[in-house]
Amino acid sequence: MNKLACVCVCVCVCVCVHVVKALNNGLALKPIMGWLHWMRFMCNVDCDADPDNCISERLFMQMADVMVKEGWRDAGYEYVCIDDCWSSHHRDASGRLQADPKRFPGGIKKLADYVHSKGLKLGIYSDVGAETCAGYPGSLGYNKKDAQTFADWGVDLLKFDGCNMKWTLLAEGYMNMSKALNATGSRIVYSCEWPLYEWDFQKPNYTAIRETCNQWRNYADVYDSWNSVKSIAEWTALHQDFVVPSAGPGGWNDPDMLVIGNFGLSHDQQESQMALWALMAAPLIMSNDLRTMCQRSKALLQNRRVIDINQDPLGRQGYRTATLGSFEVWERPLSNNFLAIAVRNMQEIGGPQKLPIMKVHGWRMCDSLCNVTQILPQYKELGVQRQQTNLAITVNPSGVALLTIQPILD
Ligand code: GLA
Repeated sequence: MNKLACVCVCVCVCVCVHVVKALNNGLALKPIMGWLHWMRFMCNVDCDADPDNCISERLFMQMADVMVKEGWRDAGYEYVCIDDCWSSHHRDASGRLQADPKRFPGGIKKLADYVHSKGLKLGIYSDVGAETCAGYPGSLGYNKKDAQTFADWGVDLLKFDGCNMKWTLLAEGYMNMSKALNATGSRIVYSCEWPLYEWDFQKPNYTAIRETCNQWRNYADVYDSWNSVKSIAEWTALHQDFVVPSAGPGGWNDPDMLVIGNFGLSHDQQESQMALWALMAAPLIMSNDLRTMCQRSKALLQNRRVIDINQDPLGRQGYRTATLGSFEVWERPLSNNFLAIAVRNMQEIGGPQKLPIMKVHGWRMCDSLCNVTQILPQYKELGVQRQQTNLAITVNPSGVALLTIQPILD
């Protein structure tokens, strides 16, 4: 692409972000950060057989404790989120949702108080249909009641799933819950799965989605595997013209949970997930066991330079700018004229490969000189470089090099 074309792309993405109004609740001005139980703990409700890993108030209290003690809260991870399988199979006599009495003996209000006492926030889960994906009560016909119940409990986020709903009713259902949450007057982040369930039938209306939700899932559930993480990145790149312009302060594309710190990804692959999620301006919601995680994964998840890219105040989502042989390059414009670059080596055989930085599309902003910093895999100041440079970036198989560049203006 020539320089003029580049300017056009940049201007278009920028303009689109500003014309698409966000949900006006003042929340998620940056992608939210936190922890969610689903990918790691799923629907484990057997507290007799597996008391340490079942979905219970104890699990969330323990995670909250670790989040404070081990620097997660200080790194920015704030929301402790409950997913499916928390509730009783029956509503109470007045039709309100209630937590499973055996696994949450104190109830959700008490758990929210506990989480708040730690300086954290609590997220909860429901579904736009009559039942959740795992067969627990959903909110269909109960939007106002459930929104008020969550507000009364002091809940700070609602993940609203889309199972068991006719697809033609998704838009109305998601909008109704948005209005119901707003009407409570409480500050509740609204996390949707509306586009994911609509894509099978038609192109979702991202203008409406951004006006309704603070974040939205577009694609399949993340698994603890490299194939899964890769497929999410690929889907996002293939649909980037459509989804990238809809992201910005107040509303974000959600590529699903960070699976770093579990079993399925090599360390290079974990770095790739972290870098990609930072470039995609994704909510950083981990699903792992904070109680037992290894130091290396923890350091990656708490890497403040990567988090700063994710949380950049400009709030523009990055995108894939090139596939060059076995390399992929993703770029994200940041505030103060910085550009973040992720160079991925997609070749899953052989050893580290080198890409000359001059091949990166955004390098052309270094008309005179550029300051170059490598952030992953190791922090390295690569110094001031001329436009004509022989600097090459080395990347491991299925790994990433994450860099920032900033032009030095005369
Ligand atoms: C769906 C969602 C997941 C999770 C499960 C729970 O699959 O996409 O993120 O919430 O339901 O049942």
